[in-house]
Amino acid sequence: MSAQLCINRGDVRLMLAQARIIVDGIVATDVQQNINEFSHVVLDGVVLQAQTPCYLMMNKPIGVVSATKDDKHQTVIDLLDMPNKENLHIAGRLDLNSSGLLLLTNDGQWSRNLSAPEKNIAKRYRVTVKNPILPDYIQAFAEGMYFSYEDITTLPARLHIIDECVAEVHLIEGRYHQIKRMFGRFRNPVLVLHRSAIGGLELDAKLTPGQSRMLTQVEVVGVGRGEI
Ligand code: URA
Repeated sequence: MSAQLCINRGDVRLMLAQARIIVDGIVATDVQQNINEFSHVVLDGVVLQAQTPCYLMMNKPIGVVSATKDDKHQTVIDLLDMPNKENLHIAGRLDLNSSGLLLLTNDGQWSRNLSAPEKNIAKRYRVTVKNPILPDYIQAFAEGMYFSYEDITTLPARLHIIDECVAEVHLIEGRYHQIKRMFGRFRNPVLVLHRSAIGGLELDAKLTPGQSRMLTQVEVVGVGRGEI
């Protein structure tokens, strides 16, 4: 309150003592009370903050950029037709020429959790490559690969060969162009890259490329739980 209204904390204490602040419909009295970005805050009848959490899944089409603004390409935000869409951010980007499950939210805590490697939330991708996938790729993906540019070794990734040139890859992190670079080690270019699931959440098969829908409460909680 003091930061947003540019007043000192003593003034806020006084407002509390005068019962002028209402948080989520209840008169606030305690200076220690936690409020977050989604608390409904009213001062003297004036609403200071009234943001509701929003969670969306989109079937990202190829050729649309995972960014909120871009000078050259259409962005995933441009594809949305809803109020306050400018408050959304992307929870785990996809490359311009990748498609599939993309999550958008205004809840920073939720998106940070989803991308934190220690939370072990796997993202599942279906990948088509140019040349046949050999069994020794499996071990290389599982062992991790050293990327000298970032000076990191990738965390263990699961590779499941589906067909001669098609595989499913499970990653628990999202390094820059990670899958393309991992197949690049075998000089095997990625032709098609599609994300089909994040944690316990599958891309809704009813969404055509470019379409999106709100997540249910069960999905919002479950995305960070279920195994894929
Ligand atoms: N790895 C990539 O190379 N690109 C993506 O979009 C996602 C994972």
